[in-house]
Amino acid sequence: MNITHRAGLENFPPYRQGKAPRAVDGLEAFKLSSNENPYPPLPSVVEAVAGAVSSINLYPEIAAEELRGAIASRWAVSPDNIALGAGSVEVASQIILAVTNPGDQVMFAWRSFEAYPLLATTAGAEPQPIPLAEDGGHDLHAMASAVTPRTRVIFLCNPNNPTGTVLSAAAVDSFISSVPADVLVVLDEAYVHFNRDADTAVGIEMFRKYPNVAVLHTFSKAYGLAGLRLGYAIAGPELVVNLQKVAVPFGVTSLAQQAGLASLLAEDELQERIDVLVTERRRVYDALLAAGLPVLASEANFLWLDSRDRTGALAALFEENALSVRVFPNEGIRITIGAPVANNRILTVARQAAALLAPQH
Ligand SMILES: Cc1ncc(COP(=O)(O)O)c(C=O)c1O
Repeated sequence: MNITHRAGLENFPPYRQGKAPRAVDGLEAFKLSSNENPYPPLPSVVEAVAGAVSSINLYPEIAAEELRGAIASRWAVSPDNIALGAGSVEVASQIILAVTNPGDQVMFAWRSFEAYPLLATTAGAEPQPIPLAEDGGHDLHAMASAVTPRTRVIFLCNPNNPTGTVLSAAAVDSFISSVPADVLVVLDEAYVHFNRDADTAVGIEMFRKYPNVAVLHTFSKAYGLAGLRLGYAIAGPELVVNLQKVAVPFGVTSLAQQAGLASLLAEDELQERIDVLVTERRRVYDALLAAGLPVLASEANFLWLDSRDRTGALAALFEENALSVRVFPNEGIRITIGAPVANNRILTVARQAAALLAPQH
């Protein structure tokens, strides 16, 4: 007899990883589909991980006190305000598990980080996607008016994945003031290090101001530790206690803990790489714009082409040039900013696209 499975899983889409690039003769291929950091880990981080390898026969320290303490000092909060997870995606999952009952709603802008609806559904909650505004940013008015008594948590993705748009401090302030105080607002700042917008909402400031705010950060993007899985929430102590209860036990490995500690000590060095990526983002943005492509200004380590019905034709050009990008059919294309050599290839695509899209006479 076959085992029975949870009802509905047959219709449930798995999380889609960014595609690998297609091999093209004579061209080095680059993966620009997962918002990864193109740089290898810093030597000090490699050394810290190597130092921890000899004890991987032992379980990691479950409370991760040293790392939580270091993150807490970084933000001048208490270690009781820090909850860790195997990537910030696991912390987002913990948040939903900790604050929703079956049938409660989890609100987020859409399109945004693809895991939100998946995490909500697996937790037994109902996803509440609210369409983005025409400019690719969150429609906070629509979100505020869509709150129901069943809405328990609202994710604000700042900058937004995949559009790269930023929420202003003023807009987020008035949004949080307008939602019920028992609804948790999570500022997902996975790309915060790349954000240079002077008016942006700053998660930690919102956290200090409002008791119903939590902030999500990751070591995967700017810190380049995507393969080790490490992220955290800055949240109120009661929430942190409950996040720990629903976390996968020992989900944060000893290697990840050591890499996290070493990265916090190397922030200046990491900043140099972040600065290069931000400069590269500008260079690629300017080229895409000059080519007449519908690129949005972005404060993250990726750019969004709002290409709609031209998405298929543009996606084919990236593929022919051995670049993998994230394609949302008939919607747009998200291109991760890579190392300069990979970005030069985006410029090639931009030139070809300009020729392809130019009005024919
Ligand atoms: C907005 C956003 N939040 C969270 C994550 C999760 O990152 P990680 O689980 O690697 O920390 C991602 C990853 O792409 C993201 O784009």
